[in-house]
Order: sequence, then structure tokens, then C-alpha cells
Amino acid sequence: MINIKSEREIELMKEAGRYNQLAFKEVEKYLKPGVTTGKLDKVIYDFIIKNDCIPSTLGYQGYPASVCISINDEVVHGIPGKRVIKNGDIVSIDLVLSYKGYHADATRTYIIGKVSDDVKKLVENTKKAFYAGVQKVKEGARIRDVSRAIEDYAHSHGLSVVEELVGHGIGSSMHEEPDVPNFDDNNMTVLKAGMTIAIEPMLNLGSKKVYMCDDDWTVKTYDGKPSAHYENTVLVTKDGYEILTGD
Ligand code: MF3
Ligand code: CO
Repeated sequence: MINIKSEREIELMKEAGRYNQLAFKEVEKYLKPGVTTGKLDKVIYDFIIKNDCIPSTLGYQGYPASVCISINDEVVHGIPGKRVIKNGDIVSIDLVLSYKGYHADATRTYIIGKVSDDVKKLVENTKKAFYAGVQKVKEGARIRDVSRAIEDYAHSHGLSVVEELVGHGIGSSMHEEPDVPNFDDNNMTVLKAGMTIAIEPMLNLGSKKVYMCDDDWTVKTYDGKPSAHYENTVLVTKDGYEILTGD
């Protein structure tokens, strides 16, 4: 079942989205070469708790942290810890929090220092692929219109699309129906005003193939080439969309 949010629920989703943006602003202050991913997790945890929010990922199916931090060839769900961020890394921060029971989910991929032109393009085009997708969102559009726009954008820029992980509905649960794939899977589900969805392209510089690491969380590219991720929580409206987690 796909939830249509009430006016009150939409207000709470917007508040959650606002806190999510503030949490990114906070962690960005600390994001530089030499910092550990564990420190960034602590900054985010402290910020979330201080603002009467809850870190959605902490304890979710046993996930041990308040954020996922995935570096270079890590696609998603990297676990923060002792790893030190260094010049030349690309760092994806995937942050989900709830406010009064409503979740907001967003991901940014940051370039640390100097990277090759290829990698810079990967990061920029992953964000642009999100925008290619979200522009299709409005009441009456199909999920597949969004998926196809992302896939087409990625392929036309020489990037591959990770298929094992997909976007999702979001609201009083972190993951709700419908799935929002980043590739065309013939999903004919029709969007309606009041749905809230997380659109989150994960694009690779090399092949689309990925594998699960021994920690049972971190997903990496099979060929070791970098991957980028960009995500926002989006409200479907009558004639378009509203992004609840900023830019
Ligand atoms: N933002 C991620 C998602 O959309 C949340 C990470 S899930 C966790 O699925 F399992 F790592 F907690
Ligand atoms: Co998500």
C-alpha cells in the first residue's frame, strides 16, 4: 500500500527535511582530510539528539551508526569508524533522521581536495541524474518515467547504474512502498499528490556490478572504480514536486 500523507504529515515531513539539511550543514564543518568517519558519525548523532530528532539508521536491522559514510569504491552503507578521510577521496554521506515520527532521507557525495576530471564528472552527473529524474515527478506520472530519466541521463554520460539498491517511499517508516529504481523496470505505479519518495541514484564510473563486503553492510563496486550517490526526499504535488531536503 502506498501512503498518501495528510496535510499534518506533510508539515512534519517538511520539518524532518529541514533538520536533515541542518545536520548536513553541521557535519560539513568537520569534513576535511584527517577526520575519521567515526568522528563525523558522532557529530551527526549529537546534532540529531540535540534537536529532538532520532537517527533512523541507528539500530535499524542491527546497523550500528547514525549515518552511512561510503568512500570511493564503496557504493552505500559504509559503517563509520577509524577510517581517515584523505585528499582525493569522494565521500558519500547518507543521513536519515526522524522528527515526531516522520523520516527524511538525503545523501550528498563530497569531493575532498583534488580528484581526476572523470571522478569530478561522476559526482556532478550523479546529482544531475537525480534532477533529471525528479523533473518527471508529478501527479499522474509513473515511477518508470522517473527511473528511465535517471537511467538515460547516466548512460548518456557514460556512467552505469547500480540496480541492487533502489529509492523508496518514505514517511512514518524509513522505507515504504513504492520502490523507486534508477533503471527502467516497467514499474507502472502512478504517482499521486501527497506521496513522499526518496529518489537516490547510485552511479558507477566503471561497471554496474557490486558486491557485499564481509561486514554484511558495505556495498562496493566489483571493479574497484568509484561510485557516487545523491538523494533527496521529495513530495509529489498536483503539478510537480517539492524537494524536502534541499540541494
Ligand atoms: N538512506 C539509506 C536508504 O535509503 C538508509 C540506510 S539503511 C541502513 O536505504 F540500513 F543502513 F540503515
Ligand atoms: Co534512501
